Amino acid sequence: MSDAELLELHGEEWSLVLEKSDRAVPVWRHLGARVEPGNLPRLADLRGPATFSLEGDHAMDALPVGGLGWFGPPALALRDAAVVFDCCEVEKTEACLTLTCRDSLGGIEVRQQFRKLDGGGLEIAVRLTNRGVDSVTLDRCASAVLPLAGNSREIVSWRGRHNAEFVECREVMPEHAWVRETRRGLPGHGGPCGAYVLGEDVGWHSGLAVAMQLAWSGDAKLTIERDDEGFWVAMAEAMLAAGEIVLAPGESFHAPPLLLAISAQGRNGAMAQMHGAVRERIDWPGGAMRPRPVHLNSWEAVYFSHDEARIGELAEAAAAIGIERFVLDDGWFRGRNLDNAGLGDWTPDPAKYPNGLKPLADKVRSLGMQFGLWFEPEMVNSDSELYRAHPDWVLKLECRDQPTARNQLVLDMRLPAVRDYLYTMLDKVCATVDIDYIKWDHNRDHAPGGGAAQVRGTYALLERLRAAHPGLEIESCAGGGGRIDAGIASYTHRFWTSDNIDAVARVPMQRGFLAFMPPEVMGSHVGASPSHATGRAQSLDFRAAIACQGHLGVELDPAAMDEAERSRLAEWIAFWKQWRATIHGGCTVLGEASDGIVWQAQGDGEDFLLWVIRRDHGEDRRAQPIPLPFAGAHDWEVQLLRHAGPRGVLTPRIGPAVAAMRGMAHRFTGSWLAGAGLPVPSIAAESALIYHLKAVS
Ligand code: GLA
Repeated sequence: MSDAELLELHGEEWSLVLEKSDRAVPVWRHLGARVEPGNLPRLADLRGPATFSLEGDHAMDALPVGGLGWFGPPALALRDAAVVFDCCEVEKTEACLTLTCRDSLGGIEVRQQFRKLDGGGLEIAVRLTNRGVDSVTLDRCASAVLPLAGNSREIVSWRGRHNAEFVECREVMPEHAWVRETRRGLPGHGGPCGAYVLGEDVGWHSGLAVAMQLAWSGDAKLTIERDDEGFWVAMAEAMLAAGEIVLAPGESFHAPPLLLAISAQGRNGAMAQMHGAVRERIDWPGGAMRPRPVHLNSWEAVYFSHDEARIGELAEAAAAIGIERFVLDDGWFRGRNLDNAGLGDWTPDPAKYPNGLKPLADKVRSLGMQFGLWFEPEMVNSDSELYRAHPDWVLKLECRDQPTARNQLVLDMRLPAVRDYLYTMLDKVCATVDIDYIKWDHNRDHAPGGGAAQVRGTYALLERLRAAHPGLEIESCAGGGGRIDAGIASYTHRFWTSDNIDAVARVPMQRGFLAFMPPEVMGSHVGASPSHATGRAQSLDFRAAIACQGHLGVELDPAAMDEAERSRLAEWIAFWKQWRATIHGGCTVLGEASDGIVWQAQGDGEDFLLWVIRRDHGEDRRAQPIPLPFAGAHDWEVQLLRHAGPRGVLTPRIGPAVAAMRGMAHRFTGSWLAGAGLPVPSIAAESALIYHLKAVS
């Protein structure tokens, strides 16, 4: 018996091993922890025939198709034709393993590429080409169909709604199938199409975790299916509208890439790779991220009631507290006094801005800030010039009433005329006002949907605009966090996490966001108290401490604060500027301590800011030391920078040694911090401690 002929791709923390089999396409041998395969017997020789099975060995192919012995989910579905691969070419470089599988009878070629990413993860990209003589209709082309180990234990995923994004869900591995499918035309408020699959004994810091995220901003499905083979199969796909993908001879369909992270360092290890994978997709003006400028966003400060004078005052108040980018939100364009009119008519409202926006933009810049503007390009109000001129430009079912949401309809981004119109409008504003930034909003679900082509239409518009204005940065927003995904991350530079800025609500939400996206693109603002979304009141310190974890902004009118609060806010902004390089330095580590405390460290490996957060009232008299497993490799100077939260008569007091750490760093050994834990004081509900940890060599 000969040994198996293996095809291997190894990351630092994972291995992908396929075996050339007697059939055309290689079969899976391993996808998981880093291994050295050595010599292995062939899979077919290891597996004796099972009862009630097809003759021959039908192990799982690298690109499994249905019909001839694979009973798990098939990667492809063509209308009216089966796909059977009869040959497969393999190309291997240091970073890529590429399989080109061909069905010569049906004229179908599928190239599947596994690419190692610099950030430690893996990208899987599939391209299907019609090499035949007739057109083919594609009903499904999965981005990946992957084996998940039989000792997988749990799926962590996120769901959400407007104002309640990223609600974490934990479920045991299914006995049949687990499906997360979105049908709203957007990823939705539960974040991107993705999940974490945890093996045995997986926590934040150790154990084998597999994270997936489809780089796609439309309807998508992630399926995790068990069958009687004894392992699970994950399949990720963009949903295609019936009959929308017809490939003429020679044409190709590119499935959106799947980003994959596999780490034995638990959820944090997989999250680090996921951050790396997304960072690789972000295309920064100038080629590299510059320090993130502190925003002021006008929305919750003034909503729709503004004009040149009012916004001028807001800009002055913003500049006075250290704001670096001023974003004029909804309400600036023709006829927009409420949410019932104006979308589509992207020219300044003559009543509010009789001189156009240029004088305002100049004023903002003369105050030392960049100028950003809100648009909702893919939408139209029926009360607008655009709709009156082109009622046929919306997504619709012929001869049926269209459901509106927030009084608006969705433009059909599949139509070149729509994209051209929007490009012309946006380009004109960018050119005449010379804006630095667009907040690109999208405030409703698609009903009816526009399929994958709607998403591709939006991507094409974004791409064209960015090519014409390479210095422009763009924020992806969809009623808060309805469009947060690695697909649109290729065109954008920030996500608006949620319209809910309540800091208590933001703690778990931001941790969910970080499962898929790095902190430098997480829009996090200091809002007013009480919160406009929840009605809850929180101290300015707590609101600011939580907002400091992402890309900081302010969403209130600083002029409406009393002098003490305003200067305190300015102090927080200065604090964030001092530490933003550390906060966005690369590495994010999440953890949970006892009695409801959560912690979060962000830094570059040798310099960290550490947040210790209590949302609710604690039950224990003493806060227990917090083991920090990431801290084992060095000794550390630990300084308490901030104690953000309420100080009442009956709130816990800080001991003198902790108080001393506010003035001077205390040196701890790495093994003490990792094994015994950082001693922390008891804190009241709605409090955060922010420490600086500096590695000592
Ligand atoms: C959405 C956004 C908000 C704001 C409003 C404006 O709800 O999430 O931040 O821009 O639209 O209408």
